[in-house]
Amino acid sequence: MAYAAGIVRDAIIDFLTQHQREASTSEITHAVSRLIGPVASSSVRSYLNLNTPGLFTRVARGHYRLTLTGETALSGDFALAHAGDARLIHADCFDWLAQQQENRFQAVVTDPPYSLLEYSPTHTAKLRAGKGGIWRLPPSFDGRQRAPLPRFTVLNAADRENLWLFFARLAHSLHRVIVPGANVVVASNPLLCHLVASAMSSSGLELRGYLVRQVMTMRGGDRPKNAHNEFNMVSVMPRSQWEPWVLLRKPLEGRAQDNLRRWHTGGFRRPATDKPFGDLIRSHPTPAGEKRIAPHPSLKPQGFMRQLVRAVLPLAQGEVLDPFMGAGSTLAAANAVGYRSVGVEIDADFYQMAKQSVQRLSALKLKNE
Ligand SMILES: C[S@@+](CC[C@H](N)C(=O)[O-])C[C@H]1O[C@@H](n2cnc3c(N)ncnc32)[C@H](O)[C@@H]1O
Repeated sequence: MAYAAGIVRDAIIDFLTQHQREASTSEITHAVSRLIGPVASSSVRSYLNLNTPGLFTRVARGHYRLTLTGETALSGDFALAHAGDARLIHADCFDWLAQQQENRFQAVVTDPPYSLLEYSPTHTAKLRAGKGGIWRLPPSFDGRQRAPLPRFTVLNAADRENLWLFFARLAHSLHRVIVPGANVVVASNPLLCHLVASAMSSSGLELRGYLVRQVMTMRGGDRPKNAHNEFNMVSVMPRSQWEPWVLLRKPLEGRAQDNLRRWHTGGFRRPATDKPFGDLIRSHPTPAGEKRIAPHPSLKPQGFMRQLVRAVLPLAQGEVLDPFMGAGSTLAAANAVGYRSVGVEIDADFYQMAKQSVQRLSALKLKNE
């Protein structure tokens, strides 16, 4: 049967809009036939081809989805909020990344969960209840209550294997959505950074070294448990005074200058013309004022985040992604230095916290700025 111009095309659009994901030509033909009466699959195919690219995207041989644009493409099926130039998505980042277009982001700065358990719903509930689980309170030597830290030393061989697989999967998911030359910077710790580096560089990203956040942490330095007096001159582990951030990059297309011209990536923005960005950044624990604005257990300080985020876009062009946004310290830093950014958070409470905190954190005036 011959249909008036546009009827088949509109029926395909109706079906794919409801379907919300890709479909094969035969699924589309069946659906369109149900909507408007019998249609030959050759006719559906020609409408699809005629409008691709544009209305439809061919995702694999004989499989199509609606071409999404702008905000719809970014948020997909997930909740979206704005905070200045930052966009906040409430989603599991792996589901969300799978829906994003290729070559979409120019840099990634992120602070992922480490034990893979600490931010699971069970352990987040234990953290909020203040007892049990993988979270511990570090010793209080000055009478002040300290924020809980996740315990990385409880990871066994199977946990480490899972951690490796998690970071390999993360690198694989990121690789598609970032442009050639994009910097990927991942917060880590001295016990596990070798796993992150090995897993993420196994999935097509190049390991480019480490950035060091120089900070006095609450990790290590303790005397042997239950034998403090006997071994009062011993620390089982050194008191950690630095935090490694693993630095990776999607391989360049051609030389650095070619990549910079085409993709605006492939280097670091200098703090000043006569000063290169350095791999040691002096920092401090997150100030109490920032924690009051965003009481997330892993909140990173704006002083450090602003220096880091500023540096990852060499030409100050593009958009920074944080797939594990937490309360949004990366996004707040991006706003503060004038960049666009996108953050993804799986936990509903932390997502709400980020919606309320990002603008307030980015508005903070810091010393030495
Ligand atoms: C270490 S925290 C990040 C804290 C952040 N840097 C800040 O300053 O607020 C990791 C965050 O990732 C979130 N998360 C864990 N798994 C996730 C996933 N699959 N997708 C998105 N977010 C996830 C956790 O709920 C947690 O808030």
